[in-house]
Amino acid sequence: MNIRIFENEEDLNATGAGLIASLLQTKPRAVLGLATGSSPVGIYKQLINLYQKGLVSFAQASSFNLDEYVGLPVEHQESYRSFMNEQLFHHIDIDLAKTHVPNGQATDLDQECAMYEQRLDDRGPVDLQLLGIGHNGHIGFNEPGNELTGRTHVVDLKEETRKANARFFASIDEVPAQAITMGVGTILKAKQILLIARGEEKAEIIREAFMGPITTQCPASLLQCHPNVVVLLDRAAGRLV
Ligand code: GLP
Repeated sequence: MNIRIFENEEDLNATGAGLIASLLQTKPRAVLGLATGSSPVGIYKQLINLYQKGLVSFAQASSFNLDEYVGLPVEHQESYRSFMNEQLFHHIDIDLAKTHVPNGQATDLDQECAMYEQRLDDRGPVDLQLLGIGHNGHIGFNEPGNELTGRTHVVDLKEETRKANARFFASIDEVPAQAITMGVGTILKAKQILLIARGEEKAEIIREAFMGPITTQCPASLLQCHPNVVVLLDRAAGRLV
């Protein structure tokens, strides 16, 4: 586990974007595992910047997103497909047909999960998986509990997660109750994992996840089992490690 703490936002974002850019330079056909939430946004901005300067190309790359809300129309501003289009895909040269986000509007959600997992098996493994972390230690939308699911599946979102994500919606009632998420096993298959966290509000969960016991009550703690994890933190999020 390589934990790095940064004094300023620019350096954190540049380091994260630099890792992704060097992967693409050595392996143009890389499979990227992408994430939503506020944590990766600065890294996406830096990547767009590098692309505009001609320093990186995504033309041959493909991507798989971690998760998507169930029942939210794709064109809804808060769907993770819209988020990815706006924050990254529409500003770079990636072939949209090679960008994968689970379909949260599928009529048969279990079948959609099985197909997503199959596509990952066929086109993966993911070379680098970008991750944020929820306040309760969730990764993707794998919520804490007595057990975790390995493969891509439908999950009921915890009230605390819906509350945390309500800031992006007009009210908490609009936050979907379910999501499709890669499983923890799916995530752990990535060759490298890059987790980003910022702010005092993440300090305690970062300590639990990386200094505490490996437990399903903190899904991010399972990352301790992975041989190649890089954690980029700002000073506040890294205060307790
Ligand atoms: C959501 C996403 C997670 C993300 C988490 C943290 O629940 N499904 O993938 O890590 O939010 O979000 P933020 O980065 O905004 O703190």
